[in-house]
Amino acid sequence: MSVEKSLAHLGFIGMGVMGKNLALNLADNGYNLAVFDLDSGKVNDAIAQDRAENPKGEPRIQGCSSYTELLAHTVSPRIIFVSVPAGDPVDHVCHKLIDAGISADDIVVDTGNSLWTDTRDREKNYAGSFIFFSTAVSGGEEGARFGPALMPSGDPYAWTRLRPVLESIAAKVDTATGLPIERREPGNPVKEGEPCAAYIGDSGSGHYVKMVHNGIEYADMQLICEVYHLMRHAMSMTPAEIAAVFRDWNSGPLHSYLIEISAEVLDEVDQETGLPLVDIILDKAGQKGTGLWTAVSSLQIGTPAPTITNAVFARALSTLKDVRLEASKLLPGPAGNGITASRAEMVEQLHDALYCAKICAYAQGFQLMQMAAKEHGWNLNFSSIAKIWRAGCIIRAVFLQPIADAFERNPNLHSLLMDPFFAEQVGQYQSNWRSVVAQAVLAGIPAGAISSALAYYDSYRTEVLPANLLQGQRDFFGAHTFERVDRQDGKYHVKWSEPGRPMVKV
Ligand code: 6PG
Repeated sequence: MSVEKSLAHLGFIGMGVMGKNLALNLADNGYNLAVFDLDSGKVNDAIAQDRAENPKGEPRIQGCSSYTELLAHTVSPRIIFVSVPAGDPVDHVCHKLIDAGISADDIVVDTGNSLWTDTRDREKNYAGSFIFFSTAVSGGEEGARFGPALMPSGDPYAWTRLRPVLESIAAKVDTATGLPIERREPGNPVKEGEPCAAYIGDSGSGHYVKMVHNGIEYADMQLICEVYHLMRHAMSMTPAEIAAVFRDWNSGPLHSYLIEISAEVLDEVDQETGLPLVDIILDKAGQKGTGLWTAVSSLQIGTPAPTITNAVFARALSTLKDVRLEASKLLPGPAGNGITASRAEMVEQLHDALYCAKICAYAQGFQLMQMAAKEHGWNLNFSSIAKIWRAGCIIRAVFLQPIADAFERNPNLHSLLMDPFFAEQVGQYQSNWRSVVAQAVLAGIPAGAISSALAYYDSYRTEVLPANLLQGQRDFFGAHTFERVDRQDGKYHVKWSEPGRPMVKV
């Protein structure tokens, strides 16, 4: 089909890095597109890439110079993808589309990293003007081009129209093995296998799930960084030696995209200085906000996600470079390096610590989604979410399959830690985890994510926590009352200032 002579199957607004790659992915899967960007250079770039990748075929991407032209060149009822920065730009595009005459049964699909409450509000606010739908996308530039993980949510009718489109462009896993089917050639998309795209729910739930994905991503990355830090500074290993260890780990239960790319980064040499690249990268972490949103949500809902939150804190602490530089001269650390194990033993201990802490981080993320689902009335399928994350996304890992299996066995599992498989795994490897935390503390190397995960695990498995004393303190200074362990008949208060301190039932 020639796009010049007939209407495009889909409209696409925003030809930035993610938009252009998603558009080319859609084109590879047989969809012609009418595209628009405020920057016409980006539209020309997308058209040029389409021509370069598809020199003999008909052009699959048609450039438009306005919202009106885009609507005029897209087949009705329209599906219009939007890839613009989260926040006001999304509403700007929506209002421009309304001004340009979009119809009530047209669908606008936000593919950005929007805050889930914005998405929920947009689903309501734009009803009547058009159907606002969203599909969160994970996998960066490569994923967008050759198969991302997709977390679609919104109007169920819109999903029936979008399903074939989204399933075609999504990453695929081999149904028999659960492993990603890798193919990264333009014009030759993966057609077989299970697509990493499943309907999440309505009211912004897809963006909530993507937010938690990113929170887990923060934790996963920070855990790897802490292990690297211990190897580099407490064990004096070179980046290349650490890369070799990560490569070795990548053939076991820690096999994941993040371990794989960490090894690649550590092996890279700076061409200018000849030094390991990692040694010349400034240790100040950036963040765009999704990890922070996850941490805030966990605090608001009251579902602890300390490893995720710790990863956000670690990024914030890293940015205090000038202060840290000064403090490093003033504040003493421990005398020795704290490491008592041999290098081989320590590497094994670090492996097990990373594995156990990772289980806790995922347990926190999934529990957060469970509690949010209860609070917001979403019917989330956790096995399906774990399956979506098996390929295409940043946290893709073999580890997602046992998580999917755990929720398949018990969809109401309170925590991954309560699943027999994960309970057994943590039980088996916990002593090495404890040993790593102890040695990190003695070495004075910060390992907040690894140790917060251990504290979380120990709190979760402890029958009596010191919250009894805490409740006593609250009752003492604020008459905040407490419950008794020996009977469940309501709240009590001790009149602390009265003689004999009588206890009254409130
Ligand atoms: C993904 C990534 C993607 C992006 C992060 C980076 O799933 O593809 O998570 O969404 O790379 O938002 O986030 P920070 O800049 O906050 O690290």
